[in-house]
Amino acid sequence: MIRTVSTAPYQDQKPGTSGLRKKVPVFQQENYAENFIQSIFDSLEGYEGKTLVIGGDGRFYNREVIQIALKMAAANGFGKVMVGRGGILSTPAASHIIRKYGAFGGIVLSASHNPGGPTEDFGIKYNIGNGGPAPEKITDAIYTRSKIIDTYKIVEAPDLNLDAIGSSRLGEMTVEIIDPVKDYADLMESLFDFGAIRALIGSGFRVVIDSMSAVTGPYAVDILERRLGAPAGSVRNAEPLPDFGHHHPDPNLVHAKALYDDVMSPDGPDFGAASDGDGDRNMVVGKGMFVTPSDSLAVIAANATCAPGYSQGIAGIARSMPTSAAADRVAEKLGIGMYETPTGWKFFGNLLDAGKATVCGEESFGTGSSHVREKDGLWAVLFWLNIIAARKQSVKEIIEAHWAEFGRNFYSRHDYEEVDTAAANALMDSLRAKLPSLPGKSHGALTIESADDFAYHDPIDGSVSRNQGIRILFRGGSRVVFRLSGTGTSGATLRVYVERYEPDASRHGTETQAALADLIAVAEEIAEIRSRTGRDAPTVIT
Ligand code: G1P
Ligand code: ZN
Repeated sequence: MIRTVSTAPYQDQKPGTSGLRKKVPVFQQENYAENFIQSIFDSLEGYEGKTLVIGGDGRFYNREVIQIALKMAAANGFGKVMVGRGGILSTPAASHIIRKYGAFGGIVLSASHNPGGPTEDFGIKYNIGNGGPAPEKITDAIYTRSKIIDTYKIVEAPDLNLDAIGSSRLGEMTVEIIDPVKDYADLMESLFDFGAIRALIGSGFRVVIDSMSAVTGPYAVDILERRLGAPAGSVRNAEPLPDFGHHHPDPNLVHAKALYDDVMSPDGPDFGAASDGDGDRNMVVGKGMFVTPSDSLAVIAANATCAPGYSQGIAGIARSMPTSAAADRVAEKLGIGMYETPTGWKFFGNLLDAGKATVCGEESFGTGSSHVREKDGLWAVLFWLNIIAARKQSVKEIIEAHWAEFGRNFYSRHDYEEVDTAAANALMDSLRAKLPSLPGKSHGALTIESADDFAYHDPIDGSVSRNQGIRILFRGGSRVVFRLSGTGTSGATLRVYVERYEPDASRHGTETQAALADLIAVAEEIAEIRSRTGRDAPTVIT
């Protein structure tokens, strides 16, 4: 029986960089999830009788919201919902399932790399039929709707068993519980030279993946241990846990430090990789060499033809504005298009759909390609293994050869987390006000060439996205970028991105923070971070 339930709107359901993210207790308020899900449906047209994909990263509250979403999808007239067994679907796998089965769209339940648990984060994101995050036009409509919504529709029925593969009925709708791994693993096998990677691993090359007790565990076990023959236990923290084992499932040098230290130790593995809560981020570490995500994008692009799925070459590269320009040099050499977009994967969708870009990346440990419409952690890891197998070189050798050929973009991001929101906004406003006066100013050896607030003109649909980050560009290609995070759930996070281009190979061995020290000092001077935020140092440096 379909029930129409009266509800009162919430005013804070504005989707951020990647869907709606709030603390679990916020989502547990009366009708909070229901309102948002109904606002999604109310913002869509023509889904009656069509298929919706639902899955999440297994975090706390995942199963509860899946039950709600299923009953609401049935009440709103979807014909079928495909759900990953146990409510599990990594973000890239969800994207693939939407595409492969021609679904109308999908609901992905995740707060990505944010911690999970009863007082931690939860999130709901809507993806469209191309498999990618809903564009701003839709997220704006969802927000507008959420502020005035007064009813939602739900089917009254007992909870479904999410743990058994197979089909059942919920009202007029079919519910199909699917294997969350198989389609995705098959896709990976079609893109990469599994034979060559299997041989590499068989020859004694030791690979370790840390799934951080998050969603990639089952995927990594199937692909690395079963299909590629790595010894059992090569995937660490392989079981997805609702609280991620109290860890912060963010693959970076802070939260995946144990893995990093292991790979760097003399008898540790040759290659280590980690992924985040929902499986779209990746970190790659080789013996003696941490790979920055910006360099990873550049190396993948430069070596793309090593992988069977990309043997015809790539059409173009897209990167978010704060990501280093390392990939730009590769695009230039290959004579292909280079696109600079705002932060957030949703901006890549149009370029991928139009065939303008094949590989995309963000400095925030996100890399991906046209195979899905999300960034894809395991895809990046497999691409690296494929390149290592094809080039018969270590990660360190590959990176150093890349820098020697293209020059090195020293790069670091400094995050100031949970800063007072008013102070963070005032800092950005003050920077914005200073922009016209900055060009031509010198700070030591650095001279500002230009400064602006990045605006993106989408070359496909003509839409314009403004206020996407303050850029201060110096002569010679160095730059500092400031923006506020759009994914946080408490206070504001100031991100400062610092980059220096160094063509001279004799200087490529410098430690990153040392190579960037003068730029970091200028960033402080111009933005007055210390006095405005009361912080002496960043919370996280990546
Ligand atoms: C962060 C990253 C961004 C990424 C997003 C979702 O967003 O910076 O590159 O797309 O998470 O994973 P931010 O918090 O900076 O808005
Ligand atoms: Zn993520």
